[in-house]
Amino acid sequence: MRPTETILRPLGIDDLAALAALEQAGQGDPWTPSQLEATLADPEARVIGVERGARLVGHAMVVRLPFDAELQAILVADDQRRQGLAARLLDEVIEASRGWGVERLLLEVRVSNAPAIGLYRRAGFNEDGRRRGYYPPLAGREREDALLMSLPLA
Ligand SMILES: CC(C)(COP(=O)(O)OP(=O)(O)OC[C@H]1O[C@@H](n2cnc3c(N)ncnc32)[C@H](O)[C@@H]1OP(=O)(O)O)[C@@H](O)C(=O)NCCC(=O)NCCS
Repeated sequence: MRPTETILRPLGIDDLAALAALEQAGQGDPWTPSQLEATLADPEARVIGVERGARLVGHAMVVRLPFDAELQAILVADDQRRQGLAARLLDEVIEASRGWGVERLLLEVRVSNAPAIGLYRRAGFNEDGRRRGYYPPLAGREREDALLMSLPLA
């Protein structure tokens, strides 16, 4: 049997329903369809998807700022994790950011999100500091700090 083909490609407005379903299933504070629609329509944003078979199993969203780029989201479906898909999405995000000629790729992540922090450390991101109580509580916990991270590109 052939292994299922894995394809990375830019997503557009036609992918909105699949993207919204992936977000809804994938995490505690999903992006709403209208937020996703606005990002898909934003000329300063790039949304990259990863498909296995015909199924959208992951995505990453990055926006261009005046001097930096910001990773706004990265998500892989539960049953597809630990197979290197987020690392491949992040490589594409870094490539797109380099194409914009920006100095750094920035992101914020919950301090409790060990998988994501592991992903970013492995890709060479630096830890720049914390934003106290930045995130609203998840599932009955307290507000949570954001860890600020950056990857120099210039
Ligand atoms: C974070 C997330 C995107 C990682 O996706 P993934 O496809 O499983 O990650 P990969 O398989 O590409 O892993 C790449 C590296 O990330 C780190 N990593 C990934 N999952 C990890 C885990 N559960 N624990 C520790 N490190 C982890 C490892 O360094 C891994 O490299 P390795 O497999 O060689 O050890 C995924 O867990 C997810 O979708 N989480 C929910 C959404 C989220 O939190 N997004 C980040 C918001 S800032």
